[in-house]
Amino acid sequence: MAGAGLSDLAVAVSEAGGLGSIPCAMLTPEGMRKEIGSFRERTQGPLNVNFFCHPEPAPNPAAEQAWRKRLSVYYVELGLDSNATSAAPPRKPFDMAACEVVEELGPEVASFHFGLPSAELLDGGKRTRAKVLSTATTVEEAKWLEGQGCDAIIAQGLEAGGHRGTFLGSEVWAQVGTFALVPQIADAVQVPVIAAGGIGDARGLVAALALGASAVLMGTAYLFCPESTISPLYRQSLANVPDNGTGLTNVFSGRPARGIVNRIVREVGPISDLAPDFPSAAEAIAPLRAASEARGSDDLMQMWAGQAAPLGRPQRAADFTKRVAREALDLMLVPNLD
Ligand SMILES: Cc1cc2nc3c(=O)[nH]c(=O)nc-3n(C[C@H](O)[C@H](O)[C@H](O)COP(=O)(O)O)c2cc1C
Repeated sequence: MAGAGLSDLAVAVSEAGGLGSIPCAMLTPEGMRKEIGSFRERTQGPLNVNFFCHPEPAPNPAAEQAWRKRLSVYYVELGLDSNATSAAPPRKPFDMAACEVVEELGPEVASFHFGLPSAELLDGGKRTRAKVLSTATTVEEAKWLEGQGCDAIIAQGLEAGGHRGTFLGSEVWAQVGTFALVPQIADAVQVPVIAAGGIGDARGLVAALALGASAVLMGTAYLFCPESTISPLYRQSLANVPDNGTGLTNVFSGRPARGIVNRIVREVGPISDLAPDFPSAAEAIAPLRAASEARGSDDLMQMWAGQAAPLGRPQRAADFTKRVAREALDLMLVPNLD
């Protein structure tokens, strides 16, 4: 979860028997080395490193200008310079520099969002014998990923927090929910399926296994853990979000992602034709997010969260991981009918 957790969270999950992930989409190669090094120092557990692999958009000054014009009312309201730029690190696709880090540090698993990197880069990752995972939001995407040699497919349902992993097609309104998606993908591919989206506790885990998944990926539930790096204001909003309090929006990055619906999502989106291509939309909106937060208001903040957020409770990540596994095993115990 780029921007929401680093090695502290990954160590806790892997120590508890899960597969901890270090999100690398917003890290420099140096940052990756530091986080992976910190992980290896603290645990012998397996590590997943996660990357984006989106196409980088060509510069489009006209689109950028129209976007800034749409946002100008908020710049005025917050007293910001209309040309302010983002202080946050940009989202970068997996490239040769990242590939070298993977080759050098040999994580057990490398996972990708928005498809897969080029064959040349992917081969670099595979030389390390890392298992390769990627996200599918449709059966077509799952089959494509299997055809490219993915070792397992993450089936990401509509309920999921964060960006839709969609890379073939762009119909946001046609996105499939986890309950319908997981069995269809499980029927369509031979490799293991990892269910993601709206799984907040042991009940969701057991349901996903019954639907044909071999494992689950939980994101939003871990935001509640003290090891996540989200801000206090984000944490507070997350604790109060109702079942229908999240939505798909492109206003923060240019790609549809599920987050807490707040003022800027309602007023500018949820889906805006003016948002420049991913990830360029983030550049103009980032100063507004930071200024809003500095004023103690979540009105203009980006707060990714999935539909199961109300199931979340603050708990240390290792305790949460073990609890979910234990409760799932209890739920799966079939009573003796004799
Ligand atoms: C705060 C946040 C950040 C995320 N960042 C990433 C990311 O960097 N890479 C990625 O592959 N998926 C990312 N996701 C999506 C998750 O991998 C996963 O699909 C999702 O969290 C599952 O649904 P859930 O949030 O309902 O558990 C993110 C999700 C959240 C909530």
